[in-house]
Amino acid sequence: MAEITINGLTFEPYISSEEISKQVERVAAEVKRDCVTESPIFVCVLKGAFVFASDFFRAIDMPSSEIAFIRYKSYSGTESTGEMNKILGLNDNISGREVYIIEDIVDTGLTAHALRQDIEAMNPKSVKMVTLLYKPDSLKYGKVPEYVGFVIPPKFIIGYGLDFDEKVRGLRDIYVLKKEE
Ligand code: IMP
Ligand code: MG
Repeated sequence: MAEITINGLTFEPYISSEEISKQVERVAAEVKRDCVTESPIFVCVLKGAFVFASDFFRAIDMPSSEIAFIRYKSYSGTESTGEMNKILGLNDNISGREVYIIEDIVDTGLTAHALRQDIEAMNPKSVKMVTLLYKPDSLKYGKVPEYVGFVIPPKFIIGYGLDFDEKVRGLRDIYVLKKEE
């Protein structure tokens, strides 16, 4: 894995695709073990979580489970803007259902908190958060996510669905912003 420069910033290798696969399998096994119904609904938060959700959904391998998509946006460039924009809502009926929100990363927690509140208002049986990455030192809003792939320091990362100004979501590995020397 080599360094990558995008829009003038340099990123270095951080988490390999092999390590990601291992943790996705582990998290999927934990969620499967904890499911109390046969047909939970997994709500993928676009855009960032689509790569993780795709691998997670196949790893969990529950024939009666369903997937849905929702889109919220709080980031611009490498910083959270502190404001939430709901771009695509949930049309699926989740009343009485076991719901798992599938996120790429929980940073300040603003997105996760807003999502939880909106989904809870739709009267589900339960709502839990599954995130590939979690930055506990950045958490300002809401709860600690129930299922976490990797706990990481408050650094800006890209790849495996995570973008830098909409670029580099297709990288198989995760990269971290390199400090200026
Ligand atoms: P939060 O609302 O501050 O928790 O931020 C959540 C959203 O910000 C995530 O769903 C990502 O889309 C984006 N985000 C947070 N940290 C990073 C990062 O390190 N790289 C890329 N996107 C990030
Ligand atoms: Mg996102």
